[in-house]
Amino acid sequence: MQNIKSYLDQHKERFINELIQLLKMPSVSADSAYAQDVLNTAEAFATSLKEAGCDLVEICETQGYPIVYGEKIIDKDLPTVLVYGHYDVQPPDPIDLWHSPPFDPVIKKTELHPDGAIYARGASDDKGQVYMHVKALEFMVANNVLPCNVKFMIEGEEEVGSESLSAFVKENHSKLKNDIILISDTGMIANDIPSITTGLRGLSYVEVEVTGPNRDLHSGLYGGAVANPINILAKMIASLHDENNHITIPGFYDKVEELTREEREAMEKAPFELDAYKSALDIDDVYGEASYSTNERNSIRPTLDVNGIWGGYTGEGAKTVIASKACAKISMRLVPHQDWKEITELFITHFEKIAPAGVKVKVTPHHGGESYVTPIDSVGYQAASKAYETTFGKVPVPKRNGGSIPIVPLFEKELGTKSILMGFGLDSNAIHSPNEHFGVWNFLKGIETIPYFYKYYTELLG
Ligand code: BES
Ligand code: MN
Ligand code: MN
Repeated sequence: MQNIKSYLDQHKERFINELIQLLKMPSVSADSAYAQDVLNTAEAFATSLKEAGCDLVEICETQGYPIVYGEKIIDKDLPTVLVYGHYDVQPPDPIDLWHSPPFDPVIKKTELHPDGAIYARGASDDKGQVYMHVKALEFMVANNVLPCNVKFMIEGEEEVGSESLSAFVKENHSKLKNDIILISDTGMIANDIPSITTGLRGLSYVEVEVTGPNRDLHSGLYGGAVANPINILAKMIASLHDENNHITIPGFYDKVEELTREEREAMEKAPFELDAYKSALDIDDVYGEASYSTNERNSIRPTLDVNGIWGGYTGEGAKTVIASKACAKISMRLVPHQDWKEITELFITHFEKIAPAGVKVKVTPHHGGESYVTPIDSVGYQAASKAYETTFGKVPVPKRNGGSIPIVPLFEKELGTKSILMGFGLDSNAIHSPNEHFGVWNFLKGIETIPYFYKYYTELLG
């Protein structure tokens, strides 16, 4: 496939410009103010699949946002790769912290990205990474080197829990039938240290509300005599970790998979520089569960984090008030064998139990999902590994990741096939944060690498 490089040289400007058009569309699934933009983005991805060479493209309606489906079936006896990704994006807030508007993409050169990086919400998570697959398909079709069948499924609700997709997958087993699922929605260690994600954490996301008196009170007249919901919430949250940063919810660790010493030693071999990690985040030390390394803390260990907290007066100046309510949003990242629904129940029971007299507590569960791991001796992993080796000149490192893509374990349960997580982003891409970006080099490298996956996967199976 020598000509993938020349094809890229010839068409890269157009590829980048096409991606920029998609990034201009504010497909924020969490905020209904953007509903029409989300629908328009589905149309745009459908058009791009048609232009890239899919024979059949459909916009499948759901209870929520539609799923863009496309396929090119060249021979029923050949294997089928199902590509999954999402066209929705996270809200851009806080807008003030962006150096350029989130839906007005700009390309800037940086030290890490001498060829430039595209700055826009969704550049890396996940439009840029989905578009690599669309353009890889264009190349394979245009040059007659597509070696197997391909199906695309691009959803619009990943960032809000993939609810409609779950139903769609359950109802469309035969339409989605495949031999392997291919996903670029993760990252790699560094541009010169390619890695393949072999695990994702599960998730339980809850919202808590602590209510004290039936109205906001004067903090002088009542202060000291009634429970202050904000004080209480802060205490309750603080009590969820002990002095070793273990989570204190009874039963929380009961099913947690403990890795063997050999497995932990293998993980230790993944390249990691603590000083670079700290300086990239401008922190003087890392923080976390005792007896585990940073790489373990953010991948094989479960966590509990407050994602947002509010209550009382937060405007300018001072207002002396005891708020009636305080609230927080809490995520728990889960690891193999923990069941997210069970963990949610454990949380609710515990949180209600630790509430002191004088307040009422309400816990509302949001979405969740299970964790995922994939073995490295499978044909799919080996094909991905050979593909990276071909284009990066290095064997990629297998690495478990801390993020979650709850639909991946569901694919395995419903469709019976594994997902290969070939991500080309970097942790420094600032996904979900202000100034999200995706390296132009990474975008092009992805397009270059993906056709080799198809080639090696079909060869290894054949
Ligand atoms: N693409 C991310 C997940 C991810 C990023 C995994 C980098 C590994 C490395 C995905 O879009 C995401 O943000 N998932 C959410 C979960 C979802 C249920 C909202 C997450 O991990 O917070
Ligand atoms: Mn994503
Ligand atoms: Mn995301």
